[in-house]
Amino acid sequence: MDSWGTRRAIVVGAQGGVGQAICDGLRRRGASIVAVVRRPYSVIPSGCEVVLSPLDSPQAVLAACAAAALGAVDALFVASGAYAGGTAIEDTEAETFERLMWTNAGLPFYVLKGLLGPLRNARGHAVLIGALAAEEPRSGQAAYAASKSALHSMVRSAGRELQGSGATVNALLPSVIDGAENRRAMPQRDPAQWVSPVRLAELALSLAEPAALDLQGALIPVRAGL
Ligand SMILES: NC(=O)c1ccc[n+]([C@@H]2O[C@H](COP(=O)([O-])OP(=O)(O)OC[C@H]3O[C@@H](n4cnc5c(N)ncnc54)[C@H](OP(=O)(O)O)[C@@H]3O)[C@@H](O)[C@H]2O)c1
Repeated sequence: MDSWGTRRAIVVGAQGGVGQAICDGLRRRGASIVAVVRRPYSVIPSGCEVVLSPLDSPQAVLAACAAAALGAVDALFVASGAYAGGTAIEDTEAETFERLMWTNAGLPFYVLKGLLGPLRNARGHAVLIGALAAEEPRSGQAAYAASKSALHSMVRSAGRELQGSGATVNALLPSVIDGAENRRAMPQRDPAQWVSPVRLAELALSLAEPAALDLQGALIPVRAGL
C-alpha cells in the first residue's frame, strides 16, 4: 500500500455518509485530513483539520479551497451531493433544479477550479462521486440526472486537462447507497442490494493509490457486488 502517512487529503462533504467513511479510511491509513464542511454540527470527524464554509457561492467555495490548499493537496475527495426526484419536469420547482445544479455541478466545478492547480503540483489524485442515475435516468429524475451528468462531463474534461501531469481525476458512479435516509425512504427495499458506503470509500481511496495512476477521467459504475 502507498504511504498515506505522508499524504494530505481534502474531503469535501466530510459529514455525509460516504464522506465520513472516506475520512475513517484515511485515518486508518494515517493520512492528514482536511475536512471541508458547511456547518459545524454532529460529526466533524475527530483528528481532522476543518475548513468551515457555507459553500453556497463560487467565492465561498474558492475561499474554502484556498484555505484547504495551504498545505499540499495529495488527494481530493468530493463526496458532497444532493438528491431530489420523483417529480415530473412540469412539477419540478425552479428552486429544486437550482439547488441540485449548484450542489452536484456548480460546487464540484469550483472545487476543481480551486484545487486542480495544487493537485497538479503534488501529482495528487481527485475522486468525485457522481451517480449511476445520470447514465441511466428514470422518469422523475431529470433535474438530478442533469446535475450529475454535468459533473460526469467535467470529470472527463478535467481528465484531459491533467493528462501527462502525474495527477489524476476520476469519478465513482454508485447506484443506491445504503444509509439511514434511503432506509427511511424505501423501507420495502433490501439494503443488501445497495452499495455499502464503506466499500465505496475503500474504492475511492484505491483510486488515489499508485496502482490507479493510469486511470484518468474515468466514470466507474458501482453497483452492490453481493
Ligand atoms: N445516497 C445515495 O443513494 C447516492 C446514490 C448515488 C450517488 N450518491 C452521491 O454520493 C455522494 C455521497 O452521498 P451520501 O450518501 O454520503 O450523501 P449524504 O450522506 O446525504 O451526504 C451528502 C453530503 O453533501 C453535503 N451537501 C449537501 N448539500 C450541500 C450543499 N449545498 N453545499 C455543500 N455541501 C452539501 C452534505 O453536507 P451537510 O452534512 O452539511 O448536510 C453532506 O456532507 C453524493 O455525491 C451523492 O450525490 C448518493
